[in-house]
Amino acid sequence: MAEQQTPHRSSTPALWHPFSDMGAVSRSEFLIASAEGCYVEDAAGRRYLDATAALWYSNLGHGRTEIADAVSAQLRSLDAYSIFGDYANEPSNRLAERLAALAPAPGSKVFLGSGGGDAIDTAAKIARAHFHHRGEPERAHLIYRRHGYHGTHGFGTSLAGIESNAEGWGPLIADTSVVAYDDPGALELELARLGADRVAAFFCEPVIGAGGVRLPADGYIEAVAEICARHGVLFVADCVICGFGRLGTWLGIDRWPVRPDLITLAKGLSNGALPVGAVIAAPSVAAPFFADSAAPVFRHGATYAGHPACCAAALAALDLYEAEGLIPRGRELEGALAEKLAAATAGSDLVAEVRAGLGLLAGIELSAEALVADPAAPARLQLACREAGVLVRPLGTGIAVSPPLTITADQLGELGDGIAAGLRALDRQGVPG
Ligand SMILES: Cc1ncc(COP(=O)(O)O)c(C=O)c1O
Repeated sequence: MAEQQTPHRSSTPALWHPFSDMGAVSRSEFLIASAEGCYVEDAAGRRYLDATAALWYSNLGHGRTEIADAVSAQLRSLDAYSIFGDYANEPSNRLAERLAALAPAPGSKVFLGSGGGDAIDTAAKIARAHFHHRGEPERAHLIYRRHGYHGTHGFGTSLAGIESNAEGWGPLIADTSVVAYDDPGALELELARLGADRVAAFFCEPVIGAGGVRLPADGYIEAVAEICARHGVLFVADCVICGFGRLGTWLGIDRWPVRPDLITLAKGLSNGALPVGAVIAAPSVAAPFFADSAAPVFRHGATYAGHPACCAAALAALDLYEAEGLIPRGRELEGALAEKLAAATAGSDLVAEVRAGLGLLAGIELSAEALVADPAAPARLQLACREAGVLVRPLGTGIAVSPPLTITADQLGELGDGIAAGLRALDRQGVPG
């Protein structure tokens, strides 16, 4: 008789967390048990204000039963089927139609995937394939911005404006280069240096998120869009964080009067309920692939592209944004969030700068002194805020907040109070010995 297998458990948990110091996490993990609205509860029953909307995605707040019901109904009718070749399903068709209708360029096409990094890799390959099939294969170079973040897939890692994310992997994708994040002139110079006819695309988050919440100066977005258009370089707006109300508009980039060639979306698209991302391609980019005869095949796509249950989640989320009028709130609340954070950080020597006022997201940059004294100060501030009942996100040199669009005025006050309490606690702790 076969010996009974006893599941064995090592002394540390088996789960390897992303972007995490597993030595420390293995000793103490923070177990989230449930979430509703703007709050989450840990395994011990303690409630926290989710000032980050999880990882920048629960824009509608947590626990949306409408999304759960839509997914459940979908799983019971058509649970899963691919859309490779001529296979199609209703939810993915409807989702593509709705996203195309939001695009600045009428007649846009939509490529679906599983998340933001997936969308970035897709956009990079569409850009290169577009020029390849136009007979300009030498147009392959990709330009990105310092501090930008475009995920951790192959192309996203090669476009890492946060340098440490690109280190330690060996050679990455060739033909990429970085420019200053805040200077259109730097893009112009880089195009001159490379020869614009060698450049396929420029990647740009409207507001840089994970790289520290860096707002574009007035005129920046229009200027880089114009430079790209003038040189025939595709303008890729990475709206993975900025979309779905975060900046008070549907797509994020539509806050500016520009027409990107490619737009990447994920996160708030499904409110994070299920993994889904998308690339919207302007007709000028997509058209050759849709030609009646001799159209090139875009040999790209992941198993779960167009997954009906994921698309049903996204459709239900889009219905909620619309029905509850939540999209403008990213703009309506931007001033109030900036005020709360200015008050919360006023007089703290630990804070160098609050970056806020464009969309419902903000970065709090710690002072150089605080960071020199303890490079782990952002992580310690996160823990101190958590202790005060507010979840914030540590970034390289500070913390970020991006609460659900459903946050109330009282809850914004709670957010500010929690950060103020966290800063006071960090100040009391001083430099760890
Ligand atoms: C702007 C931006 N692009 C791309 C990504 C990658 O998305 P994902 O983590 O879903 O792969 C992220 C993730 O935070 C992001 O913020």
